[in-house]
Amino acid sequence: MGVLIKNGTIVTAENEFKGDVYIAGGKIIAIGAKLGHRPDDEVVDATGKYVLPGGVDQHVHFSFTYNGSKVRGFETSNAAAVGGTTTLIEFVNQEKGKGLIETLEAYKASDADGIAMVDYGFHSVMTDPRDEVIEEIPKLAEAGYPTMKLFMAYKGMFFHADDDAILKALRKGKEAGVTIMVHAENADMIDVLTKQLIAEGKTEPYYHAVSRPPVVEAEATRRAIYLAELAGAPLYVVHVTCKEALEEIKQAYNRGQAVFGETCSHYLVLDTEDLARPNFEGAKYVCSPALRTAEHRQALWQAVDRKWLNAISSDHCGFDFAEQKHMGFGEGKSFADIPNGAPSLQNRLNILWTYGVCEGKISRTRLVDLFSTMPAKINGLDTKGHIDVGYDADLVVFDPEYRGIMSAQNNLEGVDYSPFEGFEQKGRPETVFLRGMKIVDNGTYVGQKGQGRFVPGKPYGAAYED
Ligand code: URP
Ligand code: ZN
Ligand code: ZN
Repeated sequence: MGVLIKNGTIVTAENEFKGDVYIAGGKIIAIGAKLGHRPDDEVVDATGKYVLPGGVDQHVHFSFTYNGSKVRGFETSNAAAVGGTTTLIEFVNQEKGKGLIETLEAYKASDADGIAMVDYGFHSVMTDPRDEVIEEIPKLAEAGYPTMKLFMAYKGMFFHADDDAILKALRKGKEAGVTIMVHAENADMIDVLTKQLIAEGKTEPYYHAVSRPPVVEAEATRRAIYLAELAGAPLYVVHVTCKEALEEIKQAYNRGQAVFGETCSHYLVLDTEDLARPNFEGAKYVCSPALRTAEHRQALWQAVDRKWLNAISSDHCGFDFAEQKHMGFGEGKSFADIPNGAPSLQNRLNILWTYGVCEGKISRTRLVDLFSTMPAKINGLDTKGHIDVGYDADLVVFDPEYRGIMSAQNNLEGVDYSPFEGFEQKGRPETVFLRGMKIVDNGTYVGQKGQGRFVPGKPYGAAYED
């Protein structure tokens, strides 16, 4: 049985047009006007609605631990589906003493296969840069994991990486088309500022932002760019948040260097004032890099519109407020004890539509590029992120007339708060297909646990094409 999605406005990263999409066998079979269908096919009337490619969220944490506290995992991936995201790529920290692929495959088998409710892939995170681990990097490409991240921040934590590891990774990665990603913040600057603030008794969540000002991010971004230049390798900078880091990326790009970057939904709509909320509520907004002021937010909207940044991810991190975020509360505790990261799996598209498209900051085609198409290309997912014959039938029928309010109560992330609580929502993913299977109907998740499949990425993703 196939499905005919009729009379919608089909939006791709290049254009939009009225038409029908016919899907069968998990793939897009035909696109056109007034397409026919078989008697037993399902027909979805998309009149007055938009048909978008399913989202690809390439920055998700389902296994992250901070100070021993762990986030929610793939059992909450139906939240992505309801938010119009049909592929997730998660960062998996290499276990000390184990190989990169060994860690990924063990995690995939125990925590994703048979559980995920949307398709999925993984980025390796190198934490143990022994010579034999560096030598393993090209093998990631063959195994379907063509991306690897290093954390320049988080001094003293097992996943922190120094310049030596980053340079070696960049050099080795380019041998096989593995894209190296960095979390760019200067760990020593943060360490000095953190100790100083705590000594001064400045321990509330707001001081998280004071401990890591824009210069911390700009310095590390610039350093990573120069390391990539020395290695002659492309670079991908995750969660860019400030004007200064943007400037470094823009200048490198204008010099002809392949430097790509993303920002994340929360940096586009939240700011440092949220960190200053009373009653320890500011802890909900502790993520790294820190939230910035409104002028940085405006610069980020401009950057995503003008293609200075290439993707918008969620950086979803499902820590509860009541227990986990409170690890920084009380005698002898500080912002430095609060697990970093915020839940945002479900609302990426809703934020981009309501506060981007509806406010005239980005076009619908630009939204599709940032939400689906470029993230697929960066990660070598050549059947995802686009609407054309032969692509996976990952599709969102988006109703622009829906009106609602974002809240932890009507969201499936399984976390006891949402950083977007009370935000107005215009439009919603009404129906979502994953490889032709209907997984969201009338805004409600109707799929099944384990319906998601591992999608191997191909090497030489978009960062290599420049
Ligand atoms: O605060 C954040 N972003 N937490 C998740 C880990 C990371 O740095 O991406
Ligand atoms: Zn990060
Ligand atoms: Zn992250």
